[in-house]
Formats: sequence, structure tokens, C-alpha cells
Amino acid sequence: MRRFVLSALALCVSVVAQSSTVDSYISTESPIAQAGLLANIGPDGSKSSGAYPGVVIASPSTTNPDYLYTWVRDSSLVFKTLIDQFTAGNDASLRTLIDDFTTAEAAIQQITNPSGSVSTGGLGEPKFNINETAFTGAWGRPQRDGPALRSTALITYANWLLANNNASYVSNTLWPIIKLDLDYVSNNWNQSTFDLWEEIDSSSFFTTAVQHMSLRQGSTLATAIGQTSVVSGYNTQADNLLCFLQSYWNPTGGYITANTGGGRSGIDANTVLASIHTFDVDAGCDAATFQPCSDVALSNLKVYVDSFRSIYSINSGIASDAAVATGRYPEDVYQGGNPWYLTTFAVAEQLYDSLTAWSKAGSLNVTSTSLAFFQQFSSGVTAGSYASSTSTYSTLTTAIKNFADGFIAVDATYTPSGGALAEQYGRSNGTPVSAVDLTWSYASALTVFAARAGNVSASWGAAGLAVPATCSGNSGPTVAVTFNVDATTVEGENIYVSGSVGALGNWDTSSAIAMSAANYPTWSVTVNVTASSNIQYKYIRIQNGAVTWESDPNNSITTPASGTYTTNDTWR
Ligand code: NOJ
Ligand code: NOJ
Repeated sequence: MRRFVLSALALCVSVVAQSSTVDSYISTESPIAQAGLLANIGPDGSKSSGAYPGVVIASPSTTNPDYLYTWVRDSSLVFKTLIDQFTAGNDASLRTLIDDFTTAEAAIQQITNPSGSVSTGGLGEPKFNINETAFTGAWGRPQRDGPALRSTALITYANWLLANNNASYVSNTLWPIIKLDLDYVSNNWNQSTFDLWEEIDSSSFFTTAVQHMSLRQGSTLATAIGQTSVVSGYNTQADNLLCFLQSYWNPTGGYITANTGGGRSGIDANTVLASIHTFDVDAGCDAATFQPCSDVALSNLKVYVDSFRSIYSINSGIASDAAVATGRYPEDVYQGGNPWYLTTFAVAEQLYDSLTAWSKAGSLNVTSTSLAFFQQFSSGVTAGSYASSTSTYSTLTTAIKNFADGFIAVDATYTPSGGALAEQYGRSNGTPVSAVDLTWSYASALTVFAARAGNVSASWGAAGLAVPATCSGNSGPTVAVTFNVDATTVEGENIYVSGSVGALGNWDTSSAIAMSAANYPTWSVTVNVTASSNIQYKYIRIQNGAVTWESDPNNSITTPASGTYTTNDTWR
């Protein structure tokens, strides 16, 4: 008993100590992050010389990596942060910059680029030169999260203007920009896209989630300003997106598979970022929209965090229920494949958002899906609903607040004196790596600090949405691909095709597609797969459950936009 009391006391002291360390980090880092973010916006930002007014540079770094460009994703997330500050009444002086951003993005939308013109797909272009000209080098394009995120930022500003007697600016200036982006989302959401990390061309949870949110917000804004002709179309596609969103959940693994392609585990900060950037406190712990405190999002968070415990040596020796540094995804090798400031902050932000939602609801739910998450904080907890008056609720929320603070403390540990936030920090020594002064890192610090203070973004209509019983349109246009492979086999042995897309089982051999030997030794099967997409695949032979793979490398095809396609391969 004595020992218990002492260790409980020790825990309590360490919780208080950590909390005050985090308090003091936040008070020094907040102004640094705010200034660091503003330094990267033209025309007056001290580190963004050459950037046009309202243009956000990703980072002032010009070599290894060269980030002196403006990305639609980064810029939109950065300006959403500033617009939330402005609409909360924190800083009226931001308005000029927000108007500059609007002007800059309106111009960028019109630049013909390698993805197309404004009306032929150019809105999916991920990055531009900072003088508002097209970037024409090779790149992972299109990236279809950009238009969704940009419209969310501008709709947030528009809603504030409507509430503050400036409907004409909304209708005349903002709406045409917003409508271009939302029409693009509405018309193209079911086409394949590069993910937010610019690497995998398939469908991507983050992209689907932010596209869904943007169409809901757009339909509400359109109704408010009398632009009713778009409303039913946006609602229809939003329903389709919400339906498709469900398909990313992997019930066996207890996590959200980030991409439908790519051939990786699919465990990825993509999903945590999606949850925090689509947080709607009015939706409580709704699972259909993967709200931060939903059982699916909490289960996912645990799987995501745990995937970094043993791969970064700076995490070694840290208890299995304590905070660690996290990165984009465990298989990452980019710039050394290190922890990222913004992903580690995102974990904390999901937890603070959850605490805010539970506090508002006056209770929290533990389900069989979220049990493993909650058992980290109280091994004996069982599924059930715990009112805020219960000791279980206090035990869990106190521990979760402490866990969340731990992620800020990890980033704080690896923040150099001076407070600059790069993109990454070394997996074995914690030294800042890759792009310096990453604008998105600063924005992520500001949003997690706001979340810890209990601030929430305006609701976007996530509450009470029903997932349609049957999904439509979610696979996009498909084409029939006939796979033919010459393979001699022995009695009892069969040939299957396995590959990087859902229609080929996502490299899961138990979901590989059986082929017919009607024209032996040619094995054949026809599969409907997404049009205009790159597909990696291999043939496998299975005998009595034993799987033999073809030798490397993967076979690769790019499917046509329409019609059919045939491969004629020979087993390797
Ligand atoms: C540059 C992209 O910005 C980065 O996200 C990616 O990991 C690398 N290219 C490698 O594809
Ligand atoms: C690489 C990241 O993967 C991508 O998400 C980001 O947009 C660019 N760097 C620019 O910061």
C-alpha cells in the first residue's frame, strides 16, 4: 500500500513536471512558430524574398531538398491556421495577408501547368514557382487534396465574412474561386491521385477525407449565398465520398489503410492528419467520419504510434505506453526516413481533440475496437460508457492528457535552442534534418498548441451524417485488363495474380485473383481495375496453401483511360 501510494505520488509529480515543461515550451515556441510561419509568406516575409504577395513558400531551403516553391497543400493548411486565428478574433492584422492569399490562389488556379489548364485538370497540380508560374519538372501529379484544402480555408473565411456583413465579397470574390475547386473535387474525386507524400498513385484516405469535408462545407455555403444549382451535385458526391471513406478501415489490423496502392503496410500519419484536419466537435466521436475520439481513429492511432517504437533508436528504452517520436510511415526512407515534427505534434493534437470532445459529451466510450488503446492507460479497463463523474473517466483522461503532452515534449526535446522547426530530426541522434524552417512544421505547432488549450475550428457538418447503404462511383472509371501468363504447373498447383490495387488484393496473397487454365499453359483472368492508373503486379503459384512468388522486379502497367488492355507475360 505504502509503495503504491509512493509510486502514485511519483507518477503525479512527473505528470505535473512534464505538464509544466510543456507549458513553458509552448510559451517560448508559440511566438517563434508564429513568426517563423509569417517569415515564409510573401511579399514581406523575411525568409521568402521573391514570393509574390500571399504566396507561402514550403521552406527557404534551396538545396537538398529544394523547397523554395509553393505547394497548394502546405499553403492551404498554413492559411487555415491563420484564418482560424483571425476568425477567433486573435489578430485582426492578419486580414490583409488573407486577402493576399485569396488573390494569389485565384491567380495560381488559372496557370496552365503539366496537369492541365484550369478547366482540364490543372487544379490538381501540387506545386508552383513562387512568382506564380508553372513548375514544369517531373513530379508526382496530380495531387487532388489541394483544391479541397484550399476551398476549406477559403470557406472558413467566407463564413466569417457572411456573419460580419460582407456577403458581397463572398459572392463576388471568394465564391468563384471556391466553386472552381469544389467542381474539380466533385468531378474528379474518384480518379486516382498521388498521396499527400507525393509518392503513391492510387486512392488516399487523407485526400478522400478532406474532399468529403470540402463538399459538405461547399454545399452549406452555396445554400447560404443562394448558389443553389450546385447543392444537389455536391451532396451526391459527398455521400459517395463518405461511403468510399469507410473502405479504408482494416478491421483485422485495427488501423486505417492510408492508400489503396503502394504495397506498404498502409500505416501512415496520413490518417492521423486526416482525423485532426476534419475534426468537428459537434460530431462527437462519430466513427463514420473518423473523428479523433472515434474508436476506429483511436485504434488506428495506437497502431501508428507503436509502429515507430522499435525503428528509431531515439525511441529505444521508452516505455511501451509512453510517447515517442513518429514519422510519415514506418517504411519511409526520404531524407533518411526520420521522425517529423508535424507528425509527432499531430498525435498530440488528435488526443487533445479527443479530450475536448469527451469533455463536451460528459462521457467517454470504450468499445472492443478501442479497448487496446485505452488499456495502455488502465490495463483493467473494459468496454463500456464512462460518465465524467466516474473514477475511470478521470483516470483515463488524466493519463491521456499526460500521454498527449508527452508527444509535445518529444518534439520539444529535439527543438534546437532558438526554436527553429525543420521538417525532420535524426532517427538516431535527434538533430534537425531536411528542409529548415518548414512552414508546415510551424503551423502544426500552432494548431497543436491551440488544441491543447481546448480551441476548436468551426464545425463543418460532420454531425449526424448517414453512410449510404450502397456506395456508388467509388472505384472511378474502370477498364477490363486481361492478364495472360504462360506458366507450366504440376498437378494441384494453380496460378494467381496479386498486385498493388484493391482489385488485385493489395498484395495480400489470400486475396489474390485465381486464373483459369482453360488455354493451358496460358493462365488467364480478366479484372476490372481503375482507368489511367499505374498497377504493379506479380503472378504467384499456390499449392496446398504454399505460395511461391515470381522473381523480381514487379510487373508494371499503366491502364488506358477507357477500353480494354491485355498483358502477355511469361512466368519468371
Ligand atoms: C519529394 C517529395 O516531396 C517527398 O514527399 C517524397 O518522399 C520524395 N520526393 C521521394 O519521392
Ligand atoms: C514533402 C512532403 O511529403 C509533402 O507533403 C509536402 O507538401 C512537401 N514536402 C513540401 O513541404
